[in-house]
Amino acid sequence: MNRRVVYTRGGSPADVLAVIEEPEPVPQHGQVLIRTTAFPVHRGDLLAIEAYPGTAAEPVPGGVEATGVVEAIGPGARVAPGVEVGGRVSVFLHPGAWSQWIVADAEVVVTVPDGLSDEVAAHMMVNPLTAVMLRREAQEHLAFGYDGLLVQTAAGSSVGRLVTGVCQSHNLPVVNVVRSDRGAAELRKRFPDVPVVSTEHPGWADEVRKAADGRPVSVAFDPIGGKHVEDLLDLLAPGGKLVVYGQLAEEPISVHASTLLHKSLTLRGATLGRWLLEASAERRVSDVAAAKQIALTLKDQFDVAATYGLDELANAVEHAVRPGKVGTVLIRPW
Ligand SMILES: NC(=O)c1ccc[n+]([C@@H]2O[C@H](COP(=O)([O-])OP(=O)(O)OC[C@H]3O[C@@H](n4cnc5c(N)ncnc54)[C@H](OP(=O)(O)O)[C@@H]3O)[C@@H](O)[C@H]2O)c1
Repeated sequence: MNRRVVYTRGGSPADVLAVIEEPEPVPQHGQVLIRTTAFPVHRGDLLAIEAYPGTAAEPVPGGVEATGVVEAIGPGARVAPGVEVGGRVSVFLHPGAWSQWIVADAEVVVTVPDGLSDEVAAHMMVNPLTAVMLRREAQEHLAFGYDGLLVQTAAGSSVGRLVTGVCQSHNLPVVNVVRSDRGAAELRKRFPDVPVVSTEHPGWADEVRKAADGRPVSVAFDPIGGKHVEDLLDLLAPGGKLVVYGQLAEEPISVHASTLLHKSLTLRGATLGRWLLEASAERRVSDVAAAKQIALTLKDQFDVAATYGLDELANAVEHAVRPGKVGTVLIRPW
């Protein structure tokens, strides 16, 4: 039998998610059958559940990423090199990844490098790919990597720590911003050489300027939105670019047109959803390879906040959005 996580209407994930039991799936043409060992609960997964419009005729499967072991390869499946029965793999994007068994299209199945634990492999795609996507966004700015630097908010998040690690590996200058002194101290321990500023104090923007030490802030990454975007735009140098990649704040972004006009600022949204739609097949392959490399070189930054069983879904989704949490919440489905 197969136990999998579904919902039939939008709403609070703790209220609408259910585990249903069905016969084990059989791989069809072009598909790979995987027995999952772990999968992450990402904020984006929860946002999709909250935002689901109306009521669904059929149960909607949850989750997009998982890791596991290949049990069978269907006819005509053009698997990536190394994907074989008995091998460890991860999948992204697979709607319905929160399941004991999944039949995934061969194109979204990638091998797990030797030396990566299941705890890392379970979230080695979404967050590292986001870091790769963001790095590309930053590098489109001509000054970034020369005299220009990056400021990123919510820098203690799972994505933010990978962005910092990637910047360090490539000698790209970054100033981190978090919302608490506690978060700043935690991040300073991990990255002693990277400046970190806490917004707990009113003069935080000046602290960022001080950390920039006269260098222009060319790019800012922000997964929060809301009112503090004005402060970030204010920090940007003329021609600067703000990349918004999340919506952690409840309130809308409010910016006077003059702020954008006089400094010729760019305000841009970026999501993996658009990356999937817009990136060429070659770029997707190369970005997945870069994501795996991030998992290998920065595996210490793939903290697991906690691991839950399928019968503890409500606890898992509550923990996934808990303030002060460090790392990703995983589910072990067996
Ligand atoms: N665009 C994409 O395709 C994409 C892909 C992946 C992730 N994301 C987004 O990236 C963000 C980070 O995801 P994650 O899984 O890495 O997060 P995470 O590990 O759960 O960490 C969330 C972080 O955000 C901080 N935070 C939460 N609400 C905040 C607020 N209102 N103001 C300031 N800081 C706040 C938390 O700070 P405390 O420690 O102080 O609680 C924590 O450090 C999320 O918004 C997620 O949706 C986007």
